Amino acid sequence: MIFKNQLTDYKFYILLFLIPLLICGISYGLIFIFFFISRRFSPALLTQNVEGKKILVTGASSGLGKSTAKILAQHGANVILVARGKDSDANGKSRLDYAVEEIKACARDPENQIIEGFKLDLKDREKIFLDIPSLLTKYNGIDWVILSHGFSSPGEIFNQSIQDAEATIAGKETIMENLINSNLLGSIRITESLFSACQKLKIDFPERIIYVASVLANVTFTGYIGYCASKFGLRGFVDGLRNELISSKTKVHLYLPGNMDTPMFENENKIKPACTFEIEGASVALPPDEC
Ligand SMILES: NC(=O)c1ccc[n+]([C@@H]2O[C@H](COP(=O)([O-])OP(=O)(O)OC[C@H]3O[C@@H](n4cnc5c(N)ncnc54)[C@H](OP(=O)(O)O)[C@@H]3O)[C@@H](O)[C@H]2O)c1
Repeated sequence: MIFKNQLTDYKFYILLFLIPLLICGISYGLIFIFFFISRRFSPALLTQNVEGKKILVTGASSGLGKSTAKILAQHGANVILVARGKDSDANGKSRLDYAVEEIKACARDPENQIIEGFKLDLKDREKIFLDIPSLLTKYNGIDWVILSHGFSSPGEIFNQSIQDAEATIAGKETIMENLINSNLLGSIRITESLFSACQKLKIDFPERIIYVASVLANVTFTGYIGYCASKFGLRGFVDGLRNELISSKTKVHLYLPGNMDTPMFENENKIKPACTFEIEGASVALPPDEC
C-alpha cells in the first residue's frame, strides 16, 4: 500500500514537470507560426528585392503614395509617380513636381534610377486608355503597380443628398459620383487599361498590383457612406480579380489601412460631422511612412 502511494506520487511529479513543458512547447510553436505568417505578409517585405523594378505609384504626390514612392526609391526601385499635377504654385510647379524632386533627392542611385512624374486624372477615362499604352511602351512594361490615389468627403446623407440634388440639377458631379469615380472607377480603369495594353503590346502583365482600400472596405462608419461604398466596391473588384488571376504570375493585393496622418485625413477632420468625431473617439493617425 505504501509502495503504491509512492508510485502515484512519482507519476504525479512527472506529470507536474511534463504539463508545463507541453504548454511551453505549444506556446513556442504558436509564436513561431505567427512569426512565420506575419513575416510572409509584412509590409516591410515590399522593400525587399525592389532594386531595378519599374513601379508605378498612383496618388504619389501626397500622403501614403508619396511615402511609398520615397521608400521604394530609397531601396533602388525605378518609380513612376502618378497624380493629377494640377494647381501649380507661383513657381509654376504642382505638388507632383515637388514630390518628384523630393524623391529624386533621396533615391539610392538618382543618376541611374528612373524617378519621373506622370500627370493623369484617374477620372479621365479617355486619357487613361490612351496614356497607359504609351507609358508601357516608354518603359517597356511595368513590374509593380501600387494604386494609392483616393479622396474622401465625410458628411451625413441628409446634408449630402441636398447638395447632390442641387449639383445634379446644375449639371455638376455629385459628391457620391466623385467618390465612386475617383476611388473605385479610377482603380478599375487603370487595371483594365494595363491588361488591355499589355495584351496588345505583347508585354508581360505586372508581377504585382497593390490596391489601397481602407478598413472602411470592411466596416461602415457614420459620415462615410459614399467613401464606404467606393471602398467596399474596390474590395469586391480586387477579390474577383485575384480569383481570375489565381493561376497567373500576377499577384493581387488589397491593403486596408486605418487612419493615417496625411492631407486627406487633415481635410476630413475639417468637415467630419460631430457624430463621426464622437463615435471615433480619441483615434490615432499613424504617419504614412510607418503604414
Ligand atoms: N489618410 C487616411 O486616414 C486613410 C485611411 C484609410 C485609407 N486611406 C486611403 O489611402 C490612400 C491614400 O490616401 P492619403 O491619405 O495618402 O491621401 P492624400 O494625401 O490626400 O493623397 C491622395 C493622392 O491621390 C491623388 N488623387 C486624388 N484624386 C485623383 C485623381 N482623380 N486622379 C489622380 N490622382 C488623384 C492626389 O493627387 P493630386 O491631388 O496631386 O492629383 C494625391 O496624390 C487613399 O486610397 C485613401 O482612401 C487613407
